[in-house]
Amino acid sequence: MKGILLAGGHGTRLHPITLAVSKQLLPVNDKPLIYYPLSVLMLAGIREIQVICTPVDVPQLRRLLGDGSQLGIRLDYVEQPEPRGIAEAFILGADRIGSDPVALVLGDNIFHGHNFYDILQRHARDIDGCVLFGFPVEDPSRYGVGRTDAEGKLVSIEEKPSNPRSNRAIVGLYFYDNDVIDIAKNLRPSARGELEITDVNRVYLERGKARLYDLGRGFAWLDAGTPESLLQAAQYVQVLEQRQGVRIACLEEVALRMGYIDAEACHRLGTRLPSSDYGAYVRSIAKELA
Ligand code: G1P
Repeated sequence: MKGILLAGGHGTRLHPITLAVSKQLLPVNDKPLIYYPLSVLMLAGIREIQVICTPVDVPQLRRLLGDGSQLGIRLDYVEQPEPRGIAEAFILGADRIGSDPVALVLGDNIFHGHNFYDILQRHARDIDGCVLFGFPVEDPSRYGVGRTDAEGKLVSIEEKPSNPRSNRAIVGLYFYDNDVIDIAKNLRPSARGELEITDVNRVYLERGKARLYDLGRGFAWLDAGTPESLLQAAQYVQVLEQRQGVRIACLEEVALRMGYIDAEACHRLGTRLPSSDYGAYVRSIAKELA
């Protein structure tokens, strides 16, 4: 399975913060926002990932993450000159996806929960159609909203409905079979001029091939697209990390636990950050798992 991390767009809801810096590079407590969605793809076992971003953001993202080889993964940066919708990612990424299934994660989505690794592994296997993930929210009208039947089959999906038919938001993590490329290529732009991910999902729904898995209330799903949600995400991460002494979305730790790098390589990455607590954590994990 291949991965796409969508880090495009101009982050206008965060202006002026994002006038000169990509939203994905903003801090969420102790690490840049992009670490969180990237860790999700890595945990799903995906090692070939396309980062889709505006041309101006490529140098800085590359400065942060390089070609991914230090983490035992491969990152390719693909330019999206204008934000033309989430679903354009599959058109831009088509060549590198080839004939594989693909997972898409949105660059401002943060996931945290017990057994997430198992959930990801289970759903990333043998994809026939698409797998979406649902999460109960207070204000579903800000999101894609789905309803399912008793078997977990999606029966309706709407983008930002003014009268939502359920409180179940569709989160920014999607698993698709390879049909998604053709589906995306045949989409028409919506009223706001974008290729909507919800329209992709609706095609799968009409084919009877869309499943929705509920992450449930014991799970945390946050987005960080506004000043308020960015701060809330940072506070959530800070509280948990301090209380438990573990780090959420520490890429070096994920790479080590997934077997993408060995303990020695992990330790080396930690020594590149000699003065931060994050760096000390990376070194301690490397020692613990050596
Ligand atoms: C997008 C999708 C929406 C989804 C949300 C998750 O919304 O269009 O269906 O629920 O991401 O973060 P946007 O962030 O573009 O408003």
